[in-house]
Amino acid sequence: QPGGALHHRGVLITAGPTREPLDPVRFLTNRSSGKMGFALAAACAAAGAEVTLVAGPVNLPTPRGVTRIDVETAAQMHEAVLEQVPEAEVFIATAAVADYRTADVAASKIKKSADRQQLELVRNTDILADVARRYPGLFTVGFAAETDDLKGYARGKLEAKRLDMIAANWVGEGRGFDTDDNALWVAWADGEESLAPAPKTALARSLVTLIAQRLDARRSA
Ligand code: PMT
Repeated sequence: QPGGALHHRGVLITAGPTREPLDPVRFLTNRSSGKMGFALAAACAAAGAEVTLVAGPVNLPTPRGVTRIDVETAAQMHEAVLEQVPEAEVFIATAAVADYRTADVAASKIKKSADRQQLELVRNTDILADVARRYPGLFTVGFAAETDDLKGYARGKLEAKRLDMIAANWVGEGRGFDTDDNALWVAWADGEESLAPAPKTALARSLVTLIAQRLDARRSA
């Protein structure tokens, strides 16, 4: 297609981990490096899309032609996404958003005292589910990071969050998080495709091709 498979389409992507503070110097986070999300941002831009990337704390350069917004917490990521999403036609949630934050952030550094210390956590809003519910016309792509029953849990997330597509990856033991390579099982309502192990940059290009195909199928439906 002239101009690329996503020519002039607005694509909003989340990437990386979030950080949930405990006190002024400590936080809860996870092992996401942002590589998968940044590779997708680069692949979408190369396919002609207008890309906005909402990134948690990562050590990666901004891909060429991509507008980047840096955030730290899940709440900040949610706010930035809600601000940008009206411009988007496609939303890809690659970020490993913390499911919980601390109930209270201590104003001063927490002192060590007792041998056991309790942390009270409260649920963060699911950004992807919230966006899919508010914007039914948006093409939504979720990720699923699984350690068991990959296809079962991924299909469950596709349906529960009312997504157009889900890209599932095995995680743990050096897989998925903070690696250069990955493998994806991609599913939509009436189809699926396995993307064999490859560099995240190559997988991102394959996923972009699938997204463009499903978008076109939906347009002509
Ligand atoms: O960053 P890398 O090191 O390259 O690693 C890539 C990756 C493993 C992080 C990535 O490929 C991946 O799987 N991302 C999703 C991680 C995740 O948190 O998955 P989940 O199954 O817990 O969440 C399901 C979906 O809901 C995801 O699209 C997630 O972005 C979204 N979500 C989850 C919780 C929340 N509060 N808000 C969300 O939007």
